[in-house]
Amino acid sequence: VFENSKTASVHVAHRIAEIIRKKQAEKTFAVLGLATGVTPIAVYAELVRLHREERLSFKNVITFNLDEYYPMQSSSAQSYVTFMNENLFNHIDIPKGNIHIPNGTIAMSGIPSFCLEYEKKIESLGGLDIQILGIGRTGHIGFNEPGSAPNSGTRLVTLDDLTRRDAAHDFGGKAFVPTKAITMGIGTIFKAREIILMAWSRKKATVIKKAVEGDISGEVPATYLQLSNNVEFILDEAAAAELT
Ligand code: F6R
Repeated sequence: VFENSKTASVHVAHRIAEIIRKKQAEKTFAVLGLATGVTPIAVYAELVRLHREERLSFKNVITFNLDEYYPMQSSSAQSYVTFMNENLFNHIDIPKGNIHIPNGTIAMSGIPSFCLEYEKKIESLGGLDIQILGIGRTGHIGFNEPGSAPNSGTRLVTLDDLTRRDAAHDFGGKAFVPTKAITMGIGTIFKAREIILMAWSRKKATVIKKAVEGDISGEVPATYLQLSNNVEFILDEAAAAELT
């Protein structure tokens, strides 16, 4: 638990930078699992600062984002492609070919093979060195909403009504929020060598209490993280307020 989200975010960014530098020293690449949303914004800002001011290079970095709305044009203001470009990728030296984000533009019939390919790519690169996560008020990680299975893989899912309400502001109304998304599964996330779930503010306190102290259940998918030895919750004091 950190005093505020700023110091917590800097901590997470430095953990990611450490992995990148270690892999550089070993002359190999770092495979990062990334998230979007409000939560990781300051993490990405610190990574950009490290690149600009402390010469952290991302040439040896390969990234896989957790999710994307479906359908979603990459060029749309609300796409996670746009989010990642604006908050991170446009400001660092990552080779564009190293970036992977679920494709919100493919035809429905192509989704199963796209998802299998996404899993295979991660595996063929040796798996994710680290996966960072936010948490939705439904208890979702990625877009694994209540009802998701612990061994689920990358797939097309239906968004929970609460998730769509929470996204309404970005889309100018809930009616404009897509009803579906492509997300890595709980099983995909679990295979990462390190998992960091971040949550800031009082708004997340109730779901954090459930995720950390509640019974393990598909009703709150983040509770599955209790089964992993490689997971850390990084919280600000407000998000930790309901923990016993
Ligand atoms: C985003 C994602 C979601 C968000 C969660 C929290 O890629 O997978 O699980 O992390 O909805 O969103 P924010 O950070 O906006 O509160």
